[in-house]
Amino acid sequence: MIKFIGNYIKIDTKNTTLLLEIINKRVVKRYYGSKIRDDKDENVFRGFFDESIEFSSSTDDTTYDNTMMSSNGDGANIEFMVKLYTNNNIVSRFIYDSCELVDINEGYTNFPHSYDKKETIKFIYNDVVSGVKLYHYLSTYEDMDVMSSFLELDNTSNELVHINRLMSLQLDFDTSEGTIYTLDGAWTKERFLSKNHVSNTTFKISSVSGASSNVHNPFMMLEIKNQGFYGTNLVYSGNHLELVDMIPVGKMRLLTGLNDYYFDYKLEPNKTFKSPEAIFTFGVDSDSITFNMHRFIKRHIIREDFREMDRPILINNWEATYFDFTKEKLLSLATKAKSLGIELFVLDDGWFSGRKDDHSSLGDWFDNREKTGGLENLSKSLKDLGMKFGLWVEPEMISEDSELFRKHPEYMMRIPNVKPLEKRFQQMLDLTNKEVENYVIEVLSDLFKKVNVDYVKWDCNRYLIDIYSNSNTDLHEYHYRYIKALYNILYTLTTRFPHVLFESCSAGGNRFDLGMMYFFPQAWCSDNTDAFDRLYIQEGTLYAYPQNTMGAHVSITPNHQTEGSVYIDSRFNVAAFGAFGYELDLLKLKKEDLKAIKNQVSFYKKYRDIFQRGDYYRINSVFDSNNFGWISVNKNKTKALATIVIQKFKMNTLKLKFYLKGLNKDYKYKVSVRNQDNLKEAREFVMYGDALMSYGLDFGNLFYQETTRALNSYSFASRLLIIERVK
Ligand code: DGJ
Repeated sequence: MIKFIGNYIKIDTKNTTLLLEIINKRVVKRYYGSKIRDDKDENVFRGFFDESIEFSSSTDDTTYDNTMMSSNGDGANIEFMVKLYTNNNIVSRFIYDSCELVDINEGYTNFPHSYDKKETIKFIYNDVVSGVKLYHYLSTYEDMDVMSSFLELDNTSNELVHINRLMSLQLDFDTSEGTIYTLDGAWTKERFLSKNHVSNTTFKISSVSGASSNVHNPFMMLEIKNQGFYGTNLVYSGNHLELVDMIPVGKMRLLTGLNDYYFDYKLEPNKTFKSPEAIFTFGVDSDSITFNMHRFIKRHIIREDFREMDRPILINNWEATYFDFTKEKLLSLATKAKSLGIELFVLDDGWFSGRKDDHSSLGDWFDNREKTGGLENLSKSLKDLGMKFGLWVEPEMISEDSELFRKHPEYMMRIPNVKPLEKRFQQMLDLTNKEVENYVIEVLSDLFKKVNVDYVKWDCNRYLIDIYSNSNTDLHEYHYRYIKALYNILYTLTTRFPHVLFESCSAGGNRFDLGMMYFFPQAWCSDNTDAFDRLYIQEGTLYAYPQNTMGAHVSITPNHQTEGSVYIDSRFNVAAFGAFGYELDLLKLKKEDLKAIKNQVSFYKKYRDIFQRGDYYRINSVFDSNNFGWISVNKNKTKALATIVIQKFKMNTLKLKFYLKGLNKDYKYKVSVRNQDNLKEAREFVMYGDALMSYGLDFGNLFYQETTRALNSYSFASRLLIIERVK
């Protein structure tokens, strides 16, 4: 609810308040945190504020003002949100003009944004230097305790304006220290949680590769003592920048948005430019940030048709065969998968043109019928079998050894007369060339139609390096224009094939972000399928993104990436907390393993809605505890599933407590342990919700059983708990 109270603007969600005040033609953030009450009388807010702020606000120096927007002409020695220049000026100074409630809701478009904003307030500023206007939009999603923010620059001047920086969100705080949580990593170790206590300095994460990246995810969480937790994320898939600037006067500024790295966008008179949308939320603890982010993404980012959709259990042939397969092998794999209850068969890399390894053929999206027996036949055979059919593509790429390159060398992104740097023996297409964009759209449309796909895995195994365009794209706008063109391709294809389930992938999880999620409701989490490493990768990912967006597969032991060994049901207990599937050669498995898989598949189907769409909480954390877990609870809190884990078995440590979360404290629950093959006796008991959450569960004994001890040659031990309300 947005209320105007005297000089104040009070923006409430169910449990939070953002209180703004217009002072000296600036929009100042007075408070953001747990909900506070109000009155018709604005004086009920006055007592909150310190004299010194009043004092500073009456000067021209905005250093002490917690403004909601800033530019490089504000007179404050701190990082800022907007930087413009023209032929004659390098400074801009925005003066607040007015604000109004507006409706900016729109349907599915070719640039990602959140759906169904409850209310939006638009603040209008004038730049007294260049004459341009700036609009700041703040929206609420009341029940979610989430808000969003972005800027729009309107070139109302009569000269060309260069945009060097136009970020999406600024939040100022009265402190110069905080703890910052980010999701950082690299290939095969994506989104590990980092925790940095920072004071009186500038903290920065960013990506410069053209993708949101596996190095630093755009999600960020900030803990401020005596206040709580603030979570932010960006609805964008390209270069991003997050800054937390602190100065020793007790001042902190958080900024998130487009990275200004090689960004110089030329805005002609009468044209506008919008920054991507940033979302933000407040909560009393880190669980609340995760909870709010998950609910928001499920409801306001994912396309409507996929929100409540059961994501199919899939089998992917990549780790089963890599490039080495025949149509017979594929069909036997699919037939075996079907007999175990698996629903979707995904044909990964290697099915097209002359592709026999990763050195060639990207761009030539034509069926290698010798290998596949004809994709349309394969697709039909699978459907006759009662399975869905999925296909891997990597459409943003081109191999030098390809028909496409031989015919259209100008489609490749590369600098004339310079040997391009190679990554995985492949190059990128210059998507900013309209002809290339159209080629990708049409070649894929033909393919998807012909083979009747139900699912597409969209891979992207390198990033932007040799940036150049034969179609005269301004190179200082290139990173942004590449992503815009990509979004237009994704939009066109998802509009042409609205019922196809797309999963994004980028060498594992190099583009796991809300921009991609707006078009593609799932993303492959990591090429590292070792369930022990996945404990970290998945818990990190689940900090910010819900279970049904996160591709998670059971693969073979010893694992192909790490050679680590994990017990088959522990592999299941981990992967079950995502959009679930298998990626191993079922034809080479022992009878016991096939039996275990059959049981897993039917168990997952029974509880799929809770695994995929339940409310998720951490029970301790893999990042700081030997015993920890994850729990997913259904909407009315009558059923929950929890995976509990001991990372390392330690002798004579019996008191291993697990404090459950998210249950109804007044309900009585039956807790049972899923009958894994390595458990001699299934345990079952009844406890109230309050006891399960406060007294906790002591599982030392269970993990100490003889059978379990034998299993400690595996990298960790785990159990899956079923928690059901009983009267
Ligand atoms: C990288 C992906 O992350 C893998 O899952 C697989 O699809 C390979 N590419 C295929 O080249």
